[in-house]
Amino acid sequence: MKAIVAVDQNWGIGCQGKLLAHIPEDLNYFKSKTLGKVIVMGRETLETLPGGRPLAGRTNIVLSGNAKYEALCSVCCSVEAALELMRTYNDDEIFIIGGEQIYTQFLPYCDEVYVTKIQAAFVCDKHFPNLDQMGDWKQSDESTVGEHNGLKYQFTKYIRRME
Ligand SMILES: NC(=O)c1ccc[n+]([C@@H]2O[C@H](COP(=O)([O-])OP(=O)(O)OC[C@H]3O[C@@H](n4cnc5c(N)ncnc54)[C@H](OP(=O)(O)O)[C@@H]3O)[C@@H](O)[C@H]2O)c1
Repeated sequence: MKAIVAVDQNWGIGCQGKLLAHIPEDLNYFKSKTLGKVIVMGRETLETLPGGRPLAGRTNIVLSGNAKYEALCSVCCSVEAALELMRTYNDDEIFIIGGEQIYTQFLPYCDEVYVTKIQAAFVCDKHFPNLDQMGDWKQSDESTVGEHNGLKYQFTKYIRRME
């Protein structure tokens, strides 16, 4: 499976339940990667989506520890239950889309991470694990630098090192 995330220069991903920046090209990039695929997210992230609703055109899976939590998509109460459900899909089609708790718990199962790097330092209360400090990951691709409202960003890809 893969993860997809937008980080600032300190691997921050969010603050007070919100994303760090609104970069239209990044939203389009996210859409192009995930459309028609399976996306896995935490209950907090689901509730930040427009109307608190699952994203259209994708199979949405949400994790909540609340067995009674109701959403307009599949809800799993544990990592194990989510992995069990994910086994019914092609591993290549599964994207972990956040937030911090879900990235942290599913990163060990990922072999690729699409990282949009925003060249700024925001005040953040949520982070993605710093892949540059983890010996088992290496950056394999990076795009040219884009810019929106003075904010520079790059699309990069990390892959798990093969020993
Ligand atoms: N920059 C990016 O690319 C990006 C992407 C996504 C999100 N974000 C940001 O990340 C922040 C949200 O991250 P977060 O860590 O607070 O929340 P989260 O990971 O989206 O969701 C956390 C919730 O998921 C459920 N959960 C977590 N682990 C579970 C497990 N093992 N079993 C069952 N349920 C589990 C719990 O729900 P219950 O409380 O219902 O039990 C928990 O409260 C926001 O600021 C958002 O904007 C950024």
